[in-house]
Amino acid sequence: MNLPDVVKPCVDPLKILKGQKALVTGANSGIGKAIAIALGRAGADVAVNYVAHEDQTELVCGEIQKAGSKAIGIKADVSKETEVLKMYEEVIKQLGTIDILVSNAGVQRDSPLEKMTLEQWNTVIGINLTGQFLCCREAVKEFKRRGVKKEISCAAGKIICMSSVHQVIPWAGHVNYASSKGGIHMMMQSIAQEVAPNRIRVNAIAPGAIQTAINTAAWSTPEAYKDLMKLVPYNRIGEPEDIARCAVWLASDYADYITGTTIFIDGGMTLFPGFATGG
Ligand code: BGC
Repeated sequence: MNLPDVVKPCVDPLKILKGQKALVTGANSGIGKAIAIALGRAGADVAVNYVAHEDQTELVCGEIQKAGSKAIGIKADVSKETEVLKMYEEVIKQLGTIDILVSNAGVQRDSPLEKMTLEQWNTVIGINLTGQFLCCREAVKEFKRRGVKKEISCAAGKIICMSSVHQVIPWAGHVNYASSKGGIHMMMQSIAQEVAPNRIRVNAIAPGAIQTAINTAAWSTPEAYKDLMKLVPYNRIGEPEDIARCAVWLASDYADYITGTTIFIDGGMTLFPGFATGG
């Protein structure tokens, strides 16, 4: 029996993404920023997508360059097809190709259902779901065009979709956001099924409460933090680096047999913490 290509032991385990080119959307703050820097430190050249705050993007690029990898800032609103197409054209021109997509850009526009405007609904679905669809579609085109380059990776390409614990935990007052993440779950699995024969791996990471600007209200006062901890059995808030470490590994050949999976990184938030004492 022919064994499949096995994962080669990495000469420098700290540079497990050496030679690879990555695009991270929404990468100038929060989770995206930590992932972009971690991919760069692991040896990948990184395209740092942003939609505003060019100064922050430059800081992220600077961190990646300090680690010896190439970094380019690239402005695009992922919910707009023309901008996504232009972004891919530019990234491929500047980096040569793309091996890794981390489809991370996301927003919240919270409101009780009856007050939620169509604009709030469309903005969240547009960025969080349609944006990921557009970025995944363009990445798959490039992965298929290029195919496997064995000296770079066992796979023709890797996609990591940023989901949330709210792909399974319903969230009152956040119907648009929870719907977008529930959509990511099926989108990710359906794409994974479709492109697995092309040696393209598609997975998701579902973060819980991670300390970033998106959820400041949930952790910035001692009372809010105490309340939040009732939902987190592990009893600490997550840090963007908790997500970044997993993303590096998931994008690497160490995770070569993993596709169509969601990894929850949530300190146990999805373990129904109320049942620790109730039920
Ligand atoms: C949301 C955060 C929230 C966390 C846990 C994330 O997906 O963006 O605002 O704190 O889920 O509820």
